[in-house]
Amino acid sequence: MTTFWSLYVTVLSLGTIFALTWLLLSTRKGQRAEQTEETVGHSFDGIEEYDNPLPKWWFMLFVGTIIFALGYLVLYPGLGNWKGLLPGYNYLDNEKQTAFANGQTGWTGVHEWEKEMAKSDARFGPIFAKFASMPIEEVAKDPQALKMGGRLFASNCSVCHGSDAKGAYGFPNLTDADWRWGGEPQTIKTTIMGGRHAVMPAWADVIGEQGVADVASFVLTNLDGRKLPEGTKADPVAGQKLFAANCVACHGPEGKGTPAMGAPNLTHPAAFIYGSSFAQLQQTIRYGRQGQMPAQELLQGNDKVHLLAAYVYSLSHGEKAPVADAQ
Ligand code: HEC
Ligand code: HEC
Repeated sequence: MTTFWSLYVTVLSLGTIFALTWLLLSTRKGQRAEQTEETVGHSFDGIEEYDNPLPKWWFMLFVGTIIFALGYLVLYPGLGNWKGLLPGYNYLDNEKQTAFANGQTGWTGVHEWEKEMAKSDARFGPIFAKFASMPIEEVAKDPQALKMGGRLFASNCSVCHGSDAKGAYGFPNLTDADWRWGGEPQTIKTTIMGGRHAVMPAWADVIGEQGVADVASFVLTNLDGRKLPEGTKADPVAGQKLFAANCVACHGPEGKGTPAMGAPNLTHPAAFIYGSSFAQLQQTIRYGRQGQMPAQELLQGNDKVHLLAAYVYSLSHGEKAPVADAQ
């Protein structure tokens, strides 16, 4: 804030407080001390007002708010560039004298948050670090780690993957044996750390509307052995050729998927996240899909992601997989 605006805010705030104090004291002068039946002399729709002094408790409350306001403005940054005198906010860590992230001093909401985070890091950091140094499979067997991982999952992942981690339309189930990007412990961690961006191209312009129907009918009938809806005008044999020419590069010659690209296994429709009906398959193939798993590295840091990976791994590998309880 420039000096001008700082002064402007200061003069306006203090001026208002002093003006109110003056108003309060000046109207109190000359007031009678005892109760009276006399009115002040005006009438609003027949309602009149006795000429009594302000009740003492009310007056004292008003004085109290003024004192509070002045005290607050001394301690906290309310007046322009004034930083406030609240003790303990010159450093992030008063003992080690480490600075706040923005290099400034004094109380601010952000500084208070930083201090709280530092405190909880000091308390829980060693526990996270202990688990972070263990292999994910081991962490996945530790009840305390799973409890912590479950809480992290409930607050950061369940919005998309569901509180039972079973997924939803567009979001994969994390409790089954189907993995789009791979289910090895380290791969799960890589997925969570860096996020994933799946790209399934749109095929309408490449193979035409009939081609979309044909290849969808091939996926539906051959890869997973279901029957086409009655009266469907689609040819699975033509679809197979289209599949061999256009799809195997990503989904593999048998349609079993390529985890390195996030291309899913097409022989297991229970794991399709965009639906496996004939209409939904055509929709996916016609327009393509771009599923995105957001990267957590900057949000959670390595140690928490390690716990999350262990938790996710436990969901499909634990003896009795725990379910995240929202808290
Ligand atoms: C904004 C929604 C969203 C949030 C939040 C989210 N995810 Fe995901 N996640 C996705 C989507 C979408 C995919 C699938 C990406 C794709 O299409 O391949 C995915 C994929 C994954 C996968 C890979 C699954 C597989 O089959 O390979 C894992 C593991 C995963 N998420 C774990 C997590 C964890 C742990 C969290 C919490 C830290 C989380 N996700 C938070 C949307 C989300
Ligand atoms: C460039 C690689 C690539 C090619 C080529 C490709 N796909 Fe895909 N496909 C993907 C990826 C990646 C996904 C996952 C998209 C997502 O998770 O958002 C996917 C998803 C799908 C799905 C949805 C599965 C689900 O979970 O709902 C179907 C169906 C599908 N592809 C069929 C095909 C067919 C048929 C072809 C050939 C016409 C084809 N794909 C060609 C990469 C490819």
